Amino acid sequence: MKESIFINIGASNHSKNERQSEDYYATEPIAGYLLLEVEPELNNIWECACGEGHLARVFDEAGKLGKATDLIDRRYGAVEDFLLNTEPYPNGDIVTNPPYCVAQQFVEHALSKVDEGRYVCMFLKVLFLETQKRQKLFTQYPPKVIYISSSRINCAKNGDFKTYNSSAIAYAWYVWIKGYKGETVVRWIN
Ligand SMILES: C[S@@+](CC[C@H](N)C(=O)[O-])C[C@H]1O[C@@H](n2cnc3c(N)ncnc32)[C@H](O)[C@@H]1O
Repeated sequence: MKESIFINIGASNHSKNERQSEDYYATEPIAGYLLLEVEPELNNIWECACGEGHLARVFDEAGKLGKATDLIDRRYGAVEDFLLNTEPYPNGDIVTNPPYCVAQQFVEHALSKVDEGRYVCMFLKVLFLETQKRQKLFTQYPPKVIYISSSRINCAKNGDFKTYNSSAIAYAWYVWIKGYKGETVVRWIN
C-alpha cells in the first residue's frame, strides 16, 4: 500500500541532467512512513517545501500534518517562500526534504521557528555531513539522530518517478530537537 501510492522509482544522481530550477525533487513517500515509525512523537508538522505533497500526504494520512507550503504552486498546499516567513511556529514540528541549494538555510530557519524541545527533520543527502560550513552548523546545532537509509530511497526530478528510476545518492533523515546539545547518534533504517 505504502509503496503503491507512487511508483517506486526516483531521483537521478542529479548530475546527468541539469538541476531542476527550484530544486524540485519529489521524495518517495516511504521516507515519510519510515520517519513516523522511528519518531512517533512528531506532530502538527509543517511541511514547508511540500512540492506535490509526497511527504505531506503521508503526514496527513497519519493525522500529523499541521500545514503544507511551497514557493511554487504545485497543486498541494499554500504558496509561500519559507525563508521569507518571519513568524514562529509554536507547538509544532517542521519536516521536509528542502531545496538542496539552500538546505542549510532551511535547517537554520526552521530551528529559529520551532519551540525548545520540538523537532526539525530534514531529508538530506548523506554528503550534507561534509564541509567546514556544515561542521559549524553541527557544532552549534547537533542533530539528535541521523537515520541513514540503507536501501536507497529515491527522489524524482519534477516528481517524474517514471523517468528517474535509479538513484546514485544516499539520503538520510537528519533529526534535530531544538536545544539538544548531546552527541549525535547514527542509526540505519530500512
Ligand atoms: C527537493 S523538493 C522536495 C519537495 C517535497 N518536500 C518532497 O519531499 O516531495 C524541494 C521543494 O522546495 C521548494 N522550494 C524551493 N525554494 C523554496 C522556498 N524558498 N520556500 C519554500 N519552498 C521552496 C521547491 O519548489 C520544491 O518543491
